[in-house]
Amino acid sequence: MDIRLLHPSDIPHVQHANITNLPENYFMKYYLYHALSWPQLSFVAVDVSRPKKTPYDYPRIVGYVLAKMEEDPPDGVQHGHITSLSVMRTHRRLGIAEKLMRQSQRAMVETFGAQYVSLHVRVSNNAALRLYRDTLGFKNEKVEAKYYADGEDAYSMKLDLGFVREQIMDELDEGDLDEGEPVGELGKLEDREKDKKAVVTKDGKKRKVRVGRGLGVGDLVEKNESQKA
Ligand SMILES: CC(C)(COP(=O)(O)OP(=O)(O)OC[C@H]1O[C@@H](n2cnc3c(N)ncnc32)[C@H](O)[C@@H]1OP(=O)(O)O)[C@@H](O)C(=O)NCCC(=O)NCCS
Repeated sequence: MDIRLLHPSDIPHVQHANITNLPENYFMKYYLYHALSWPQLSFVAVDVSRPKKTPYDYPRIVGYVLAKMEEDPPDGVQHGHITSLSVMRTHRRLGIAEKLMRQSQRAMVETFGAQYVSLHVRVSNNAALRLYRDTLGFKNEKVEAKYYADGEDAYSMKLDLGFVREQIMDELDEGDLDEGEPVGELGKLEDREKDKKAVVTKDGKKRKVRVGRGLGVGDLVEKNESQKA
């Protein structure tokens, strides 16, 4: 199974999965709006166990998460929102939905500094409720009466993403993040260590954070092209 970012060319297959699995369906342009506005946040699970017969075979998408950042959040707090999530019946209970959700949550923090993520779920949707509440740790915020077109109520749920921020900071501390091979002089470890500065975070812990490359300011000043050499 390959879990990767959603590409605009996946949209027809994601739409197909959505129509198969859920009564809440959307126009193509709504998917495109997500893919173009927040390309970092939506993911697909592709079954790669059956090799492509021709280069033109489309990917076998068996699950997706469609996510966005809330624009103009009413509480003024930067946060993400899960618009839709589903996994094909043939591929359920394999941990795919959990992985899709965790990838998206991490990207919300890394890319947009999201403080929390919100979603709506039908009060009768036990599978999704178990996933959100028990596996991922979402909390019920409130019940939104008759939220769905057929009159069913929704739980409005929220997950604080502080723990994801912590995880990322810990990985930075331990140097776990794969930033690729060092390149040239600037990539040398000593230089990178020199660029680190000790800071005290909100939780009172002391951490070393990278504060920029070892470039002199002179290297960044624009040249005055009007003066002849
Ligand atoms: C809800 C849904 C996305 C879960 O997808 P999935 O890939 O099967 O979920 P995972 O395998 O990642 O499950 C993770 C955990 O969630 C819970 N869970 C998932 N499906 C469950 C079910 N049918 N019954 C009880 N718990 C369930 C379990 O705790 C599970 O962990 P476990 O398998 O170790 O017990 C999937 O059932 C689905 O697509 N349903 C239809 C669409 C839908 O309801 N989407 C959500 C709209 S808000």
